[in-house]
Amino acid sequence: MSRTPRTPRTTHTTDPTGPALTRLRSSRTALLAALSLITASGATATVLSASAGAATAGCRVDYQVSNQWNTGFGANVVVTNTGDPLASWTLEWTFAGGQQVTQGWNATISQSGAAVTARNVSYNGSLATGGSTSFGFNASYSGANPVPTAFKLNGVLCDGSTTTPTPTPTGTPTTSPTATPTGTPTTPPGGRVDNPYAGAKVYVNPEWSAHAAAEPGGGKVANQPTGIWIDRIAAITGANGKMGLRAHLDEALRQKGGGELVVQLVIYDLPGRDCSALASNGELGPTEIGRYKTEFIDPIAAILADPKYAGLRIVTAVEIDSLPNLATNTTPRATATPVCDVMKTNGNYITGVGYALKKLGAVPNVYNYVDAGHHGWLGWDDNFGASADLFKQAATAEGSTPANVAGFIVNTANYSALKENNFTIDDSVNGTSVRQSKWVDWNRYTDELSYAQAMRAKLVSIGFDPHLGMLIDTSRNGWGGTARPSGPGPRTSVDAYVDGGRYDRRFQTGNWCNQAGAGLGERPQADPATGIDAYVWMKPPGESDGASKEIPNNDGKGFDRMCDPTYTGNPRNNYSMSGALPDAPLAGEWFSAQFQQLLKNAYPAL
Ligand code: GLC
Repeated sequence: MSRTPRTPRTTHTTDPTGPALTRLRSSRTALLAALSLITASGATATVLSASAGAATAGCRVDYQVSNQWNTGFGANVVVTNTGDPLASWTLEWTFAGGQQVTQGWNATISQSGAAVTARNVSYNGSLATGGSTSFGFNASYSGANPVPTAFKLNGVLCDGSTTTPTPTPTGTPTTSPTATPTGTPTTPPGGRVDNPYAGAKVYVNPEWSAHAAAEPGGGKVANQPTGIWIDRIAAITGANGKMGLRAHLDEALRQKGGGELVVQLVIYDLPGRDCSALASNGELGPTEIGRYKTEFIDPIAAILADPKYAGLRIVTAVEIDSLPNLATNTTPRATATPVCDVMKTNGNYITGVGYALKKLGAVPNVYNYVDAGHHGWLGWDDNFGASADLFKQAATAEGSTPANVAGFIVNTANYSALKENNFTIDDSVNGTSVRQSKWVDWNRYTDELSYAQAMRAKLVSIGFDPHLGMLIDTSRNGWGGTARPSGPGPRTSVDAYVDGGRYDRRFQTGNWCNQAGAGLGERPQADPATGIDAYVWMKPPGESDGASKEIPNNDGKGFDRMCDPTYTGNPRNNYSMSGALPDAPLAGEWFSAQFQQLLKNAYPAL
């Protein structure tokens, strides 16, 4: 992977007309692994009912313990209305194990003795027929933590079968509940839904899960969903003894059971890959677009189109870093690299992405998300619009149309903080804007959430679908641990203010390789904020970004000095120290020391 690119300060002036940040739909107080199939305790329950009494009422409840520790747990509850439309809802259940709710979100939750009542909040009261909504809570418990067996929606029992899978302490996925929903399906067969993550579990990669579970403390996250990187032609059938695409999809069907399940694939093998760096160069040379089409995209599309997999929601993250590199790391910019210039001139990134979008987009249950860099790369005015235009160009290349794009993904395999709470882009110190601080350096955004929302608006304004949804990779942008600032920096200077308050502790936002001090970020979850389909862990935490020294290999991967902790930088990180951890293996290989650091500095803490 690569990235980068700042633009020279001299080309910018303060502009008070920056995009207003969209208000978050809800304030979230706890972060849960709302999407994982296997819970820490293995506890899940699905209660199904076609209708109760009259044909007008019916409900389905999916209750998942998503995170559990000695004295507490977090749960996510998905409520599906299978009856007539509702204007407001109340869900009731009884705890059998002395559990006590301590805090909730996306619902107002009260508890009296063992009886719990969850009511909708202002923005999620209306539930169409077949519509779902979800809410979550944290609770305390001691001893056992049995899953409630009965739920009532607006007084009507959601009475159906209840299945609790066998607990799996090692994180190995088990089959999910096998009961078949008899209510109105939320997804018409073969049809796309607005947000594939809503009301769905997300595929847990057993191979990553096993790596994580084998690490001390790793069991706490081993059940989280992560991306499957199809990073070479051989990965389609299974490279180096690893599971191939069909093996993953078959396992996904098993994990899916009777509910909905998202599988996350990273499509990553463009000709001249990773043109601004060396660490993730790939197998195809800059001119090998023919092979990309026929040996990579076509076989992937053929597998995804197998009717056997039609019930899966397949999310693809399309070609990480490629289009942003064309926008920022090409002549006449000081950040240009020879290979990025070649890829711009020969058009093979645009051709490849257009082709991938068209072929994969022709499969009705595929949801394409195009890579859109991150705020510390494309957040400058002259990068932002230029990138959006390139995304449009690619989405309309090779006969593709914007309808093949379900959304965009930001921060993939990067470290930019999700939300910097201690300063905003509109703050100033003694009359100097934070945009003039060394860290922000005239960028228009301070974090990924504001960037993703603004990029979404921009893309819709130039012709992408108004339902566009964004994904944010939060796998490694937690920046917790003891060095995390607890409040704003001093107002003695704009730099002291920003540097004292920022969570992101990189030397520079262009740094991208195995960053020291980083932690796991928000746990994967659906629909976390306006315009955002999900927080995802697309980069599997613990997999290296690149080797810190030369390591011979047959994969095309080079040695990029941005992965060498002694390196003092290049134009793409404004000649800053690399901030990389030492002793890293090749990109994609397991890097235990990094995984341990990510656990230690997780935010929210584990
Ligand atoms: C890097 C590697 C790639 C790997 C991915 C996920 O991009 O180059 O091979 O699959 O990271 O860890």
